[in-house]
Amino acid sequence: MELQLENVSKNYGTLRALKQVNYTFTEGIYGLLGANGSGKTTMIRLLCNLQKPTEGRILFDGKDIKKAGQNYRSILGYLPQDFGYYPDFTCYKFLFYIATLKGFSKKNAPDRIIEVLSQVDLLDVKDKEIRQLSGGMRQRLGIAQAILNDPKLLILDEPTVGVDPQERVKFRNLVHRIAHGRTVILSTHIVSDIEYTATQLLFMRLGQIVGSGTPDSLLQQLDGKIWECSVPFGEADQYYDKFKIISQINHEDGCTLRLFHEGKPMEAAKQVKANLEDLYLYHFDKTK
Ligand SMILES: Nc1ncnc2c1ncn2[C@@H]1O[C@H](COP(=O)(O)OP(=O)(O)O)[C@@H](O)[C@H]1O
Ligand SMILES: [Mg+2]
Repeated sequence: MELQLENVSKNYGTLRALKQVNYTFTEGIYGLLGANGSGKTTMIRLLCNLQKPTEGRILFDGKDIKKAGQNYRSILGYLPQDFGYYPDFTCYKFLFYIATLKGFSKKNAPDRIIEVLSQVDLLDVKDKEIRQLSGGMRQRLGIAQAILNDPKLLILDEPTVGVDPQERVKFRNLVHRIAHGRTVILSTHIVSDIEYTATQLLFMRLGQIVGSGTPDSLLQQLDGKIWECSVPFGEADQYYDKFKIISQINHEDGCTLRLFHEGKPMEAAKQVKANLEDLYLYHFDKTK
């Protein structure tokens, strides 16, 4: 399977939310990273054929998704960022409703619903009302409705917003499990959501993809450029003016600054291994 953005732009009035994006998704987990307003949801809604590009085309296996209609919908699973729930529905009833919308027969729906509920580990709460579920459970129910039709292409827009850290771990593992044999596109601004699972990362900024590749290949860009240095409290401020500081960890007798620099920034600095958090900041804090 191949999903290709060909010179895709999206304008909202005079605002250019997406600017001439070219990218091809194949099988694997794609992490779409970007700050609020960078264009993630816009790109996702275009990929889901819910909005039309102002310019350019989106091709699924070489065919424009505009013309693919029902064929495209049948391979697509989508969890929107602002997923509307039905608080009075039980999990089961909600999935039954969605299954009907997706064209399941009354005869086939129940078995599939039980199968999906078990995949997302919600079988034991299937008769609970949605209002009674935790944030993490609701998002897993959101995944359940998205995978009902066993989609080849699964798109999740900020699925971990409002989910507590423990549930996030569970969620990550779930995505990893269900990704096998599919294309999964997951947007987030939380690096740890996709740190160990994404096969490809895309960094978005101001409607453009400013970096993409495997986590390893992207991290190589930062080889030799991440440094740590311990300094007394009183001196820390001056380094903020001079260097691009990634983080500051305070100790009893001073602090450790983590920073970007081409070449050794100061005598006492130690080179350290770059991580995805550094990479994220590298792409978003580019002031140039
Ligand atoms: N329906 C809309 N009408 C006008 N502007 C929009 C609309 N949707 C998004 N935008 C704007 O487009 C830009 C990208 O938004 P969005 O795609 O939602 O980014 P993200 O999902 O990364 O937060 C933002 O500046 C946002 O305000
Ligand atoms: Mg969004």
